[in-house]
Amino acid sequence: MSVKDIFDSMDYGPAPEDAAEAFAWLVDQGDRFGHFIDGAFTAPGDGFLSKNPATGETLATLTQATQDDVDAAVQAARQAQPKWTRLGGYKRAKYLYALARLLQKHSRLFAVLETLDNGKPIRESRDIDIPLVQRHFYFHAGMAQLMDTELPDRDPLGVCGQIIPWNFPLLMLAWKVAPALATGNTVVLKPAEYTSLTALLFADICRQAGLPKGVVNIVTGDGAVGEMIVAHPGIDKIAFTGSTEVGRRIRAATAGSGKGLTLELGGKSPYVVFDDADIDSAIEGLVDAIWFNQGQVCCAGSRLLVQEGIAQIFLSRLKARMEMLRIGNPLDKCIDVGAIVDPVQLQAITEMVDACAHGEVFKVNAQLPAEGCFYPPTLITGLEPSHRLMQEEIFGPVLVSTTFRTPDEAVQLANNSRYGLAASVWTENLNLALDVAPKLTAGVVWVNATNLFDAAAGFGGVRESGFGREGGWDGLRAYTKPRRRVRQLTRIEPNPAKNGDPEGIDQTAKLYVGGKQTRPDGGYSRNVWSKTGKLLGQAPIANRKDIRNAVEAARGAAGGWAKTTGHLRAQILYYIAENLSRRAREFAARIDAMKGGRQGAKEVEASLRRLFTWAAWADKFDGQVHGVPIRGVAMAMREPVGVIGTFCADEAPLLGLVSVMGPAMAMGNSCVLVASEPYPLAATDFYQVLETSDVPGGVVNILTGSHEELAKPMASHMDVDAVWSFSSSDLSGLIERESADNLKRTWVNNGRARDWYEEDSRAFLEATTEVKTVWVPYGE
Ligand code: NAI
Repeated sequence: MSVKDIFDSMDYGPAPEDAAEAFAWLVDQGDRFGHFIDGAFTAPGDGFLSKNPATGETLATLTQATQDDVDAAVQAARQAQPKWTRLGGYKRAKYLYALARLLQKHSRLFAVLETLDNGKPIRESRDIDIPLVQRHFYFHAGMAQLMDTELPDRDPLGVCGQIIPWNFPLLMLAWKVAPALATGNTVVLKPAEYTSLTALLFADICRQAGLPKGVVNIVTGDGAVGEMIVAHPGIDKIAFTGSTEVGRRIRAATAGSGKGLTLELGGKSPYVVFDDADIDSAIEGLVDAIWFNQGQVCCAGSRLLVQEGIAQIFLSRLKARMEMLRIGNPLDKCIDVGAIVDPVQLQAITEMVDACAHGEVFKVNAQLPAEGCFYPPTLITGLEPSHRLMQEEIFGPVLVSTTFRTPDEAVQLANNSRYGLAASVWTENLNLALDVAPKLTAGVVWVNATNLFDAAAGFGGVRESGFGREGGWDGLRAYTKPRRRVRQLTRIEPNPAKNGDPEGIDQTAKLYVGGKQTRPDGGYSRNVWSKTGKLLGQAPIANRKDIRNAVEAARGAAGGWAKTTGHLRAQILYYIAENLSRRAREFAARIDAMKGGRQGAKEVEASLRRLFTWAAWADKFDGQVHGVPIRGVAMAMREPVGVIGTFCADEAPLLGLVSVMGPAMAMGNSCVLVASEPYPLAATDFYQVLETSDVPGGVVNILTGSHEELAKPMASHMDVDAVWSFSSSDLSGLIERESADNLKRTWVNNGRARDWYEEDSRAFLEATTEVKTVWVPYGE
């Protein structure tokens, strides 16, 4: 036998991890768990079994929470919250630090329990999940410490309902609990029904850390308990990670409630390999992308796109590598691929793959354990981009693959998805990587790497992968709100007619779509009367067709506008201000005629200032480079959201419009603005200012008409990326509900007034941009 033969045939012996401590802990708890409410475990109630998916054995009996349990948990969190906030950042930091230390001291117990409960290889829970959990609490101890000085004008939201999935049970808990606690919120968390044990061990750690009662509450149970949390009136924010389908339901269920919402949902992330990539590294990366955690990872690199010239060699080397993957007992330290979380998930994966009648299916021919939920690593090649398996999340160890010829085609294929969570790009040409990364529709891009995470770097998606970021300053801000007094907004009705005398000659405004003034599709207009009841002119009544036309124009302009420089966009905004200032008196008179009083000049002056503010910001809202603990950088790039539809403020017909148009334009978005309903003529006069200011057609589109009638077509339009409402009509619930289909970002006023004279740039900068984190490791 040659040395080569020995190397080729050498098998690893088993290296099992001892699970005795974890079992002892379960026995100590009596193998039956209640909930953790107000600092203590409740008596176990009617429940369900928690099983080890690798063996099928029962680990413990958990309690299905009732409405009373959820009420008690919310009440405990409510009661604890003001005191927890008043403790201040330093004292909260000390608690978070204590939690981090305890997590470290019990790291092996957590890792083993996680593996027993979830089926993931102990190597992963020990070396990835639990260290990242600790890092998250350490990092957020720091955030708590800095919160008072760095976010002095922000308050916590209150009580946060947090619903997490089963793929990274403790890590998802850490992602949710640490920033919430750091910022002075209290939480009611529901772990996934398959994997609640490490959350309950965490509850034990909270007790050991002396965390004040009620700050962390954990209730167990299935989706019905999740629904109770979502619907509970005592909850101020829902943070959810899980399937897109449930995310959509939660969006609809919270619509109009005023609750904050962040959703981290599914993905079908592309893994793009160019022909100059280091093939061996790219194949090793792929093992981490799709066989890490059995592929049950929201950002798994589950769609391989490989450049045609190297496809054959790449796939054959990949298959050879797949054959080397060791599948089996997750507690064995030599195992690469463990168990699927539950028979239900195993069945879902099996059915999806078995139903695939196209392409070529390559399954690793390994001896799977006789018991438990195991699925062999699988590669499917030769599928059409539109094939179900190329589009839908399988959430298992199954990779689908296709080829591309040029970088442009790679980008097109990569973006051919309703999701937008993550992407990997493999090439030795950094120029190509940094050209492609910004073009990919994804919240995270890894260059020559995959599945890198850190507490300092934002994580989250675009499109149907959800909204909001977790980690870093953006993640932290999502648990806070601005500190200001709340004033209710009352609906402003159009002025009634008193006499029919028109002012001057007939002035019939049109709509402004694609850089042109166009007649409304329906052919209807309405009279606009002055405060004193004189006829000022007519404003068109836009309908759903006009919304469609405006969105089409905005979409057409969006790509080109996003590519312009901030310098150019600043110049155009200054030019708009210049042209508006020439007609300042005319606009002031118009506003006074519509609204009555003599505030018009002040509003025009504030509008000019606002345009200057946005011209100033156009080239200054910089990204960041995060100091992540790898050799490399994680760059947080600010990208435009896309097409933003807005219902403008009624009370400030010019300032309200300029205040939303300015940031949208400055950050590279195009917009569809529905002008103030009672006072539309300042907006229609504004068309001429836009026409003379070099604004490219389609970047700004303005419609007039009924806010209530236009809200539905705008919010349900699949090609709109974000919808905002500052209208005095009550649109908030409708917009949030209708936006659920494609999970567009929303920003609604929930019936609260905004002081348009106050500068609030940060809120608009954040709403008009999306963070993309691009990880670029370097060195060896
Ligand atoms: P899921 O989205 O149903 O469950 C996630 C969490 O939400 C669990 O705690 C569950 O109890 C809770 N939940 C379920 N229905 C709810 C409702 N109506 N209201 C509030 N909470 C609710 O995910 P599931 O069933 O565990 O997995 C199904 C598929 O979802 C997977 O095959 C995978 O495609 C995807 N998924 C994606 C995850 C991600 O990280 N993006 C994580 C887990 C699943």
